[in-house]
Amino acid sequence: MAKHRQSRFPTRKSSSSSTLVFTLLIMFTFVILILLALGILSIPGNSGGSTKVHDLSSIVRKTSDDVDEEKGEQWVEVISWEPRAFVYHNFLTKEECEYLISLAKPHMQKSTVVDSETGQSKDSRVRTSSGTFLPRGRDKTVRTIEKRLSDFSFIPVEHGEGLQVLHYEVGQKYEPHFDYFLDEYNTKNGGQRIATVLMYLSDVEEGGETVFPAAKGNFSSVPWWNELSDCGKKGLSVKPKRGDALLFWSMKPDASLDPSSLHGGCPVIKGNKWSATKWMRVEEYKA
Ligand SMILES: *[C@@H]1O[C@H](CO)[C@@H](O)[C@H](O)[C@H]1NC(C)=O
Repeated sequence: MAKHRQSRFPTRKSSSSSTLVFTLLIMFTFVILILLALGILSIPGNSGGSTKVHDLSSIVRKTSDDVDEEKGEQWVEVISWEPRAFVYHNFLTKEECEYLISLAKPHMQKSTVVDSETGQSKDSRVRTSSGTFLPRGRDKTVRTIEKRLSDFSFIPVEHGEGLQVLHYEVGQKYEPHFDYFLDEYNTKNGGQRIATVLMYLSDVEEGGETVFPAAKGNFSSVPWWNELSDCGKKGLSVKPKRGDALLFWSMKPDASLDPSSLHGGCPVIKGNKWSATKWMRVEEYKA
């Protein structure tokens, strides 16, 4: 009899203590729910802040005292979500910029555009710059830059076309256009162009902005609005700065073409502009 009672006692104790733990858990959950309902606690995310997706004034321009003078501070700034556009500040060093210009300079030719009917290159008044292609993987420096571009964009090096170095003198420009193709001919190798990285190899005293006239959002709220040319004020604009790289996507995440990626190069007003463009394809591009 006594033996029987002894064996039952411990089981009853453990079952009552687990009931207590369970009751406490339920109570705790209710307290949290009540706090959430009263707004005393909040779940991190959009519900807490008042940041709107298209509120470009919320872009924070970061400044820091401990900037590496040689390289400058490296950070990525979201410029726009429609189109998806990002600026990687100080992506290239001064030496890399100067090196790319020195490689291209002896081979500059008048730029052409793609004829959407035939897919062939043709001369054009909408694009008045001069330029040249540097073959992919041309040398160690170019390979280092191409690897960095791949790391930034998450697109393999093999999907990239050769770097195109461009030079715009005063008055030269590139009217707004899409980087994606509307013909069959140009997508045979590598498929559609999915993204572009535009690297600025020089500062431009005035003008020469990259402008996205179809960008969604209040583009007059960018902090650099007052420094833009009239052309630059026709859309969301990025001012050329030596070493900076602008990545934007011509396709949406669902692989449909993104018309908000319309972009142009504003006429240079003072100084001259050197840039390098890397176009990236959906598939491997045989270089
Ligand atoms: C756009 O931003 C500018 C500058 O911040 C502001 O003055 C203007 O009222 C804004 N326009 C709209 C439609 O929100």
